[in-house]
Amino acid sequence: MALKLEPGAKLVLATHNPGKAPEIAALLDGRFEIITAGQLGLPEPDETESTFVGNALLKARHAADRSGLPALADDSGLSVKALDGAPGIFSARWAGPSKDFVTAMQNVETRLEEMGSDDRAAWFTSALAVAWPNGPALVVEGRVDGTLVFPGRGTRGFGYDPIFMPEGETMTFGEMEPAAKDAISHRARAFAKLKAALFD
Ligand code: IMP
Repeated sequence: MALKLEPGAKLVLATHNPGKAPEIAALLDGRFEIITAGQLGLPEPDETESTFVGNALLKARHAADRSGLPALADDSGLSVKALDGAPGIFSARWAGPSKDFVTAMQNVETRLEEMGSDDRAAWFTSALAVAWPNGPALVVEGRVDGTLVFPGRGTRGFGYDPIFMPEGETMTFGEMEPAAKDAISHRARAFAKLKAALFD
């Protein structure tokens, strides 16, 4: 069965962050009617899986089955090779409840120093899942590889952007114009795959 969504279809976004809705609606070319799980009063599930794909699927499945509508969820983060993929699915949690990414980035640097490793290879991953209520699901993953730089550079973007320099570039994500980041980011790559799968 081809997993498609008709233009104008309702799509629940499994997030309680209202800021994410317009951004994701635009990434989907304004094709669907986006409603957030928060607007529907759905509870947020615990992210108990051990992979980005697992957590995206868990959140999409949870929202779809409870709302009776197709649901989209994402899970993303930074993985550092010398730290065996950490912070990975714990990327947001390393910043603590106050979302302090200065400390989170400092933690990455400290742990690398403790490892005594010169390997600065890292990558961002974005997993996207669409689940149909009590039905099938579609999962895609986008990735961008790069190198960590300390101290971080640039004030654009969010999260770990200042310490991540994508492969083949001389600027960090924190220094790049938003459009330049959007052209190569893990999220853009995941959405390109999702659209190829979901649209006619
Ligand atoms: P999520 O909202 O649970 O998927 O957590 C994603 C976390 O990964 C964010 O809080 C950021 O710390 C990090 N992250 C994901 N994508 C990016 C990015 O494009 N730039 C910087 N940090 C990112």
